[in-house]
Amino acid sequence: MESAVKSIAVLTSGGDAPGMNAAIRAVVRTALSKNIKVKGILRGFAGLLEEEFVELDSKSVSDIIQRGGTILYTARCPEFVKSEVQDQGAEIFKKHGIDGLVVIGGDGSFKGAAAMAKRGVNTVAIPGTIDLDIACTEYSIGFDSAVNTAMETIDKVRDTSTSHERCSIIEVMGRNAGYIALWCGIANGSEEILIPERDHNEERIIKTIIEKRNSGKKHYIIVNAEGIGNSEEMAKRIEEATGMQTRATIIGHAQRGGSPTTIDRVYASIMGAKAVDLLSQGASNRIVAYEKGEFIDYDIEEALAMKKDIDQYMYELSKKLAR
Ligand code: ADP
Ligand code: F6P
Repeated sequence: MESAVKSIAVLTSGGDAPGMNAAIRAVVRTALSKNIKVKGILRGFAGLLEEEFVELDSKSVSDIIQRGGTILYTARCPEFVKSEVQDQGAEIFKKHGIDGLVVIGGDGSFKGAAAMAKRGVNTVAIPGTIDLDIACTEYSIGFDSAVNTAMETIDKVRDTSTSHERCSIIEVMGRNAGYIALWCGIANGSEEILIPERDHNEERIIKTIIEKRNSGKKHYIIVNAEGIGNSEEMAKRIEEATGMQTRATIIGHAQRGGSPTTIDRVYASIMGAKAVDLLSQGASNRIVAYEKGEFIDYDIEEALAMKKDIDQYMYELSKKLAR
């Protein structure tokens, strides 16, 4: 079947995520296999406005599947929320004579993608964020790598925490979402998980630490989500109230870097290929998603209107297993 598009461009936007390079590689090589020409737009929507277009061929994406970050660079472009700036973005895009656009990013980037689609640019988006906070999909590029990096770091902190018989508060990323914290809490066997989606009671935590220490427990690990934050202050309060030495570790941007896991390489590759399949079938304003073991796609507005909550079973499990 003849492709509905003859040329496409790809950009990465918002926070980078391990696996974005695998997605870019899949976009490029899938497109080339269909005789579709490909350009990269550097630095997300900011680069679009600056007309930072680069040619991409098969060789441009060699040796990147194993690398974290994004070869196209990424940026936040706050002015892209303005309708007149979106008009300008679409005009620039059309001026370059390209038929389709692939946007790899999170919820914010999808709004930019929808704005482009609304202005007649055939656009397909791919979920790329370590936060896993995109409602329409159970998988987003980078989460698996980030959660593994955080898990390995927490294991290391736990060693020293045990040796010193301390309480450790380890803060993980996730913006307003607690997925990284929840998964690490279970994977690291932490005593507490603090996430913005659920309330916590510091008085109760302090009481539990005292009780557990009196019954011989050597360490107390608290995984704290960025959305709760204030780990340093919390550490001071806990140390003062329990008498147990308490340290805060904020893992930070290390979670966004490093070589992507197998899952991130493979799923990102499938999503990249799927985005090109959709564009070549004439689709626009779609988001590639993963649900119940299948790669599917949604209308962007429909996807943006969806809501999701953390898995209550997992949350309760984390508490049960921490006893
Ligand atoms: P993410 O895509 O990871 O959620 P951001 O929320 O920072 O990250 O959004 C990335 C970029 O997407 C922004 O810098 C901006 O260029 C674009 N964007 C965000 N919100 C909107 C919006 N409401 N309309 C158009 N573009 C947007
Ligand atoms: O969205 C990914 C993310 O790493 C969040 O977890 C975090 O809140 C934010 O980006 C950090 O952004 P920046 O790189 O601008 O500090």
